[in-house]
Amino acid sequence: MNTETAYKSKGRFGAHGGRYVPETIVNALDELEKAYQEAIGDPAFLEELQYLLREYSGRPTPLYYAERLTEKLGGARIYLKREDLNHTGAHKINNALAQGLLAKRMGKTEIIAETGAGQHGVASATVAARLGLSCKVYMGEEDMRRQQLNVFRMQLLGAEVVPVKSGTGTLKDATSEAIRAWVSSVDRTFYVIGSVVGPYPYPQMVRDFQRVIGDETREQIMRMEERLPDYVVACVGGGSNAMGMFYPFLDDVDVKLIGVEAAGQGVDTDKHAATIAKGSRGVLHGMMTYLLQDENGQIIEPYSVSAGLDYPGVGPEHAYLHDSGRAAYHAVTDDEALEALRLLCTTEGIIPALESAHAIAEVVKLAPTVSADTILVVCLSGRGDKDVTQIYEREGGAQ
Ligand SMILES: Cc1ncc(COP(=O)(O)O)c(C=O)c1O
Repeated sequence: MNTETAYKSKGRFGAHGGRYVPETIVNALDELEKAYQEAIGDPAFLEELQYLLREYSGRPTPLYYAERLTEKLGGARIYLKREDLNHTGAHKINNALAQGLLAKRMGKTEIIAETGAGQHGVASATVAARLGLSCKVYMGEEDMRRQQLNVFRMQLLGAEVVPVKSGTGTLKDATSEAIRAWVSSVDRTFYVIGSVVGPYPYPQMVRDFQRVIGDETREQIMRMEERLPDYVVACVGGGSNAMGMFYPFLDDVDVKLIGVEAAGQGVDTDKHAATIAKGSRGVLHGMMTYLLQDENGQIIEPYSVSAGLDYPGVGPEHAYLHDSGRAAYHAVTDDEALEALRLLCTTEGIIPALESAHAIAEVVKLAPTVSADTILVVCLSGRGDKDVTQIYEREGGAQ
């Protein structure tokens, strides 16, 4: 949705962020902002959220010292923040639980969501079932093909998965369709956005619901190493696991923050999703941010082997962290991610999601270049069960 029919200065991160939406949803966003502010000041809401995160999802997730990967790479001490061990297998559940509770509090009966890798869709369907809400998930046809297992999981959980045929049938198209559906039913539906994207207040709200990842990491590393890490690394699609991880470390200037985008078949080809490396400022899905676009402002279709990183934009706070130099953003190819995935499988007995494998690939490059007393924490945003069939097809099965 590129039409700017309403604009509010709040919710800016430098030049990025804001609220570029049609008039019809301005009231809904105001209502959401108010409900969110009230909810996070309400001990009963926070208690219920903490209860569900702990008893239902299994938080806190471990911060695991990856001894064999550390030995193999011969450099930094590597820790994995195990978001893959959450109920439903990814960090997406943190945000879906919180937004689901907010939807209920606001008296909504239906939630809608968009999904790429399917993990946000599965998390939303799970929360809808748990809270007794109905659920529709918009998903690109190409992503439905790549993530068949997750489509079936959502259906088992009682959600309706709506196929989106437009564009490349990936996350951008699903998001556009979900926004369109939301505009036409805003009185009864709550749009559970899956990343730190969209119009204000979504980027801030999703970050606040994901900061639990970084808050726990900070406490855990202080307990285990008695100091903060030197590097914090996370993959970036829209950027929610990275933002949740980075946020509690923003004021610790000695902690280097590295976001990892998908370089697909290479940033110098036309098949990548490296938005910060190759993008320029523009408006999409209600926000000003870096986008892959041509000189006329038309979106250049992104590409990545990983459905969750296959998005032409990035959360506005990441755009700001890039502009200010507080975080660095690197890009990793499909091949590098697949190689890193195999390495984590065989050294640690952990099959990461293809998205998370991008962060591991960055660690594979970085860790050997630094000293053995360097501490590196990487967010393992999700588990790879959903990707096994796709990897099997791509690589021709067991070797
Ligand atoms: C396991 C996993 N990691 C990362 C992502 C990327 O999203 P974000 O950048 O919002 O963390 C996804 C998105 O679907 C995902 O499923």
